[in-house]
Amino acid sequence: MRVLSGIQPTGRFHWGNYFGAIRQYIELQDEDESYYFIANLHALTTVRDPKVLAGYTLDAAIDLLALGLDPQRATLFVQSDVPEISELCWLLLTGAPMGLLERCHAYKDKVARGLPADAGLFTYPVLMAADILAYDSDVVPVGEDQVQHIEVCRDLAGSFNHHFGQTFTLPKAKLLDHSAKVPGTDGEKMSKSYNNTLELFEDAKAQRKKIMRITTDSRPMDEPKEPEGDHLFQLYSLVAAEAEREEMAAMYRRGGFGYGEVKKALADAAERYFAEARARRLELESDHDKVRAILADGAARARKKAGEVLLRSKRACGLIPT
Ligand code: TYM
Repeated sequence: MRVLSGIQPTGRFHWGNYFGAIRQYIELQDEDESYYFIANLHALTTVRDPKVLAGYTLDAAIDLLALGLDPQRATLFVQSDVPEISELCWLLLTGAPMGLLERCHAYKDKVARGLPADAGLFTYPVLMAADILAYDSDVVPVGEDQVQHIEVCRDLAGSFNHHFGQTFTLPKAKLLDHSAKVPGTDGEKMSKSYNNTLELFEDAKAQRKKIMRITTDSRPMDEPKEPEGDHLFQLYSLVAAEAEREEMAAMYRRGGFGYGEVKKALADAAERYFAEARARRLELESDHDKVRAILADGAARARKKAGEVLLRSKRACGLIPT
């Protein structure tokens, strides 16, 4: 089984990225082959400051390594270091139906809000399809918001195969049911664009303050409450041990507690949960050369595989004589 996923360096990673996707990368890195990349070409559709983009890209690599991605077991690289992807993207674009792309939510939402969209955003899912197909990926671990894009990838691959003969492997999305959609501090999906994130490596004091400001309902203190639908409880469940989670659920059902107590428990559990990764991050932060060498090695490995698939696709559609 070949696993692949990408993550955009559009800011610092948050709990949604970790519990929805990165945690799966780490669990799956022992599969036959796994490829994880930092999607800087995608990020270029929103981050237009070169220094900021370069900084976020390196930070993303450091974060992934600190969180447990092991370059001995998984191939870690930066998207733009594999130029084969952009070429493959063009092959797919030539047959991508406008209607299919018009239905994709990132583009559709922007247009619905009356904002101007550019061709980069419109064709974004096709570049993503190229990312996936270039490695003959079977499985793509992602959060729920990316499922539509993987369906688009399957459609594009299927119609290419239909037209030019069997060329691409059709991938499947892999979701974690309990954290495929991690809520933010306001209960909506956690997302940088909603300004409701808890970042993985933000200053512990600043994070505690953010947690204390999480919006809650106006339930009277003594009233029992179902824990399952509550976003504060959902966030706590991500970082607490099983026994702590059970205890908290029982407290919700009994009633007679204040949300302040839950928030404090959440901040404590989060600090414990990420303590080791935080320490590893500090070490990596002082050795950028090592991180750059890991990325260069990853890119070389990724290019080898992507080059094979590109050659196969160019042959299939008549760009290279068979
Ligand atoms: P991106 O950078 O927005 O998000 C990276 C990963 O984090 C997941 N995620 C979440 N999961 C659960 N709950 C949330 N609140 C939450 N927020 C983010 C996302 O689902 C994603 O898995 N287009 C992709 C990057 C990409 C890609 C690819 C992914 C480019 N090429 C090829 C897979 C395969 C994106 O913007 O993810």
